[in-house]
Parts: sequence; C-alpha cells; structure tokens
Amino acid sequence: MTRKFMDSFTFKNGVTLKNRVLMAPMTNFSSKDNGEVTEEELAYYRVRSGGVGAVLTAVANVTDGGKGFHGEIGAHRDDLVPSLKKLADTIKGEGAKAILQIFHAGRMSPPELLPDNQTVSASAVAPEREGAATPRELTNDEIEQIIKAFGDATRRAIEAGFDGVEIHGANTYLIQQFFSPHSNRREDKWGGSVEKRMTFPLGVIDEVNNTVKEFGDDSFIVGYRLSPEEREEPGITMEDTLTFTDRLAKEELHYIHVSVQDFQQGSMRDESDTASRVQLIQDRIGDQVPVIGVGSLHTPDDVEKAMEGGVPLMALGREIIVEPEWIQKVEAGREGEIRTSLSVDDREVLTVPEPLWKAIVNTKGWFPVKEHQNA
Ligand SMILES: Cc1cc2nc3c(=O)[nH]c(=O)nc-3n(C[C@H](O)[C@H](O)[C@H](O)COP(=O)(O)O)c2cc1C
Repeated sequence: MTRKFMDSFTFKNGVTLKNRVLMAPMTNFSSKDNGEVTEEELAYYRVRSGGVGAVLTAVANVTDGGKGFHGEIGAHRDDLVPSLKKLADTIKGEGAKAILQIFHAGRMSPPELLPDNQTVSASAVAPEREGAATPRELTNDEIEQIIKAFGDATRRAIEAGFDGVEIHGANTYLIQQFFSPHSNRREDKWGGSVEKRMTFPLGVIDEVNNTVKEFGDDSFIVGYRLSPEEREEPGITMEDTLTFTDRLAKEELHYIHVSVQDFQQGSMRDESDTASRVQLIQDRIGDQVPVIGVGSLHTPDDVEKAMEGGVPLMALGREIIVEPEWIQKVEAGREGEIRTSLSVDDREVLTVPEPLWKAIVNTKGWFPVKEHQNA
C-alpha cells in the first residue's frame, strides 16, 4: 500500500525531509544537572532517528532562569555546544533532520530549579493550579535579554550542526504567557491588545532569524509551535490564535506546529465547537506556510486520516516512544507489527532512559501501558 505520508517534503528553503512524519518534541528528564545530554539520552534518540523525516528534540532552556524540568537539555551556555553537537550528530547520523526545540518556562518553572528560586513572567499572575508560585513581573530590560538569549541559543544550535530550531511558543510556557491575556496584564508595549501581546513572540522570531542570517545560512529551518487555546478566563481564544497565525504566516518561518493532545479535538473553551483546531488553522493558513499536526496519532491510518484536510506534516509523540521503528515497519510492509501500547517490562527493548520510563509508568492514563507482557 502506498502511504501519502511516505512522500518526501521540501521546505521553501529547498531542504527536503525524506517523509512527512516527524518525532514530536518530548522532554525525557535525562540530561545532567548542568544541561549536558547523557549517553542514555543519545541512545534513545539514536533508535528513533532512522525512520522519521525529522526529530524535534526535547525542549532546551535558553537561560538559567528559564529551566522548566529536571534533566532538561541546556542551550543556555557556550560550553554546552559540544553536548548539543553530540545530540545533532546522533540524530543526523541516522538520517533524520535534527531540530532543537528552545524555550523559557516562565511561570511554569519549578522554583527549586532556578538560581534564585523565583519564577518570572509577563505579569505577576500565578498559573491556575494547586500550590503554584506567583511569578515576578519581568522588567523591560529583562525581556530584551531573554529575547537575546533565544538568539544565543540559536547560534549554539547552528554551531552544533542542527538543521533548525523550533521556537516553543506552546504548552503554557513564557512565549505563550506573553500572548495570553491570563498571564499578560501589562499595559506597556508588551501587553494589552491581541496585537501588543504578539510583541514578545514576534521579537523572539526576529531575533532568531537575525541570528540565522548572521551565523547560519538559508538551509537552517526555523519553526514555531503554538497552543491554539487556553481554558482560563481570560485565556487565549481561537479568534486570538487565528489573528496570530495570520501574522505568523507573514513571518520568515518554515512551519507552524499546532500543539494539541488530539489532532481531531475540538475547542477546550466551548464543548459545542467540535472542529479540529489544527484543521481550522490549516484552513486559514492554506499554503502560506506548512502546518505540522500532532496528537493521539498511532496507526498509519490515523496519520493518513489526519492528512485528508491538507495538513502536510504530522508529528508523532508517544507513539514513537512506544514504536521507535514506526516508519521502518510501514516501509517494510509490516504495518500489522506496529506496537501501539507498551508493557512495564519493555524499557530496555525500547531504549528509554530510566527517568522518562519512571514518568511513563507512574503517570496514569498518559501512555497505554500493559502491566506485564504476558499478563
Ligand atoms: C513524555 C512527553 C514529553 C513532552 N515534552 C514536550 C516538550 O518538551 N515540548 C513540547 O512542545 N511538547 C512536549 N510534549 C507534547 C508532545 O510534543 C505532543 O504534542 C503530545 O504528546 C501529543 O502528541 P502524541 O499524542 O503523539 O503524544 C511532551 C509529551 C510527552 C508524552
């Protein structure tokens, strides 16, 4: 059977992915405390980079104060370039394009991971979750320094040999916090109307692109990931997002990646609105800039169905952990052998670092986990 997602895909800069399936960015909690990648982590990427067109790495922090997880990849110091190079070489060595995801966690950082135990954000508004710390509002100078840090992290990604960076503007982290009317209550140039709430994300995009012009070349891919809605009131609405994507489509971006848990899912703000958020964005953007879809796609049929509405690229997250050889099995005509669930005994077979494995088996409902292979 010929599968459309096995066709190659060429970005506007001429860079070609050998197929249209990407590994979604997934934090694996396995880097050293200083931000260097570990051998375990490299082994995990090695077995997952032989089939997909591109690997979007676990997110890396661009400043010390922007760390969001234990065991996060660091891109915040020049001495981390050799570590980043190991990661890029491992992924590219197996044939996939290597794209480093970069972020600042803002008010979502665990305070104990930060140098001064103080989270920061656009405004001093705590996230709506039990026990969350109230962040300190960033000053204008600090905001400009963070924007610059996204450029520095991009330069390190270029020096390390990555094929691109993905700016992580999704999943409630700092860039989204600036776009959100929940976390951004500012009345200066960084906040207010939907247009003014775009100032920080657009500033980051400009800085990244200027860095690529200075240190890289046209072949370097720059993508942007966003979350289309927030549950909070006030929170990001689909209307805000469509205004934003109209603007993003005019920026120098190679793709827009829409982060949702389920590709087919409707609104999280209005139950009666069941249209896929990714599809709505695709319909609005058309062919101005390629869209990456994601979310609860497991089988080749799931991916093919999601592509029916014209979304050209699809990312697989949990499924690539469960089945590192997803593409190879499709290629070999062995689709029936694609695993869609894992067993608590599979860690070594699947080459998953211990800290990620613990998170997988201990977080109920996150992954389809069978107790024991023979149970
Ligand atoms: C273990 C794990 C870690 C994740 N870490 C990140 C991350 O670092 N950056 C990000 O943008 N999304 C992250 N996500 C979200 C995924 O990229 C993806 O959007 C989500 O899991 C839905 O896709 P899936 O159903 O194919 O897993 C993570 C998801 C999982 C399961």
